[in-house]
Amino acid sequence: MLAAITGQPRAELLNGIVVDRPTVNMFYRLMEQRSAGMPLQYLEGTVQFGPLELLVDDRVLIPRPETEQLWEKALELVPDGACTVVDMGTGSGCLAIGIAHQRPLARVIATDISRDALDLARLNAALLQVEAEFCLGDRLDALDPSLRGEVDLIVTNPPYVSDSDWLKLPPEVRDYEPRLALAAGDGLHIFRYLASEAPSWLAPEGILVAEIGDRQGAKIHRAFRDPKWEASVLPDLTGRDRFLIARTTA
Ligand SMILES: C[S@@+](CC[C@H](N)C(=O)[O-])C[C@H]1O[C@@H](n2cnc3c(N)ncnc32)[C@H](O)[C@@H]1O
Repeated sequence: MLAAITGQPRAELLNGIVVDRPTVNMFYRLMEQRSAGMPLQYLEGTVQFGPLELLVDDRVLIPRPETEQLWEKALELVPDGACTVVDMGTGSGCLAIGIAHQRPLARVIATDISRDALDLARLNAALLQVEAEFCLGDRLDALDPSLRGEVDLIVTNPPYVSDSDWLKLPPEVRDYEPRLALAAGDGLHIFRYLASEAPSWLAPEGILVAEIGDRQGAKIHRAFRDPKWEASVLPDLTGRDRFLIARTTA
């Protein structure tokens, strides 16, 4: 926190630093907020996502390490050259901006139902000088109808925590991060929706890559057991089910 408010590198602080009274007061204020449970990333105002530093505040979910893995998987699957990628539920913009940054030929469209989140994602893209389009709206309905059948890859980290599990989340998460970003009904509805609606937006052999809850793998795999899809569930680095990769059959 001291590094964030003084602008000094952390290593320098180990040698000791002389700060003025207003800086001390600000430091104590941040300490109080941190002690009350506010996540460090909101206090610092930034988070590292791959090579990018993104602004974060309580309008958006703090991007998690597993979402960086989702981004890496998505990058492997984005076709070379011109293509269309949709990030549904973009939050801070981490996935959309991360993909647009690495694949400058891709048309990247980020959606969210939260106007506040979309404002911050747009600001992050502007600050990082990354080209992406931002659309406000519910799930895939946010997309322009002209995109039907045209999307090569949909990447999403949707709200997949059930309402009852949300109540059991640590206070640091439950009391500070947007509920809209985390919880939705039984936590699985969004995947049933994607299994039925995503094929009409995807190009032939288009791909859906999604982050999932670590206890949802079997149920989500079942939702995608359909002749329209070839789906697999993959683990994260800790070995827990964490990603869905589903390809539409031609
Ligand atoms: C788990 S957060 C993911 C944010 C970001 N992509 C990330 O990985 O850090 C889910 C996001 O989906 C958005 N969201 C929730 N319900 C939605 C809906 N029905 N349609 C579109 N976006 C929605 C939330 O506002 C939130 O930004």
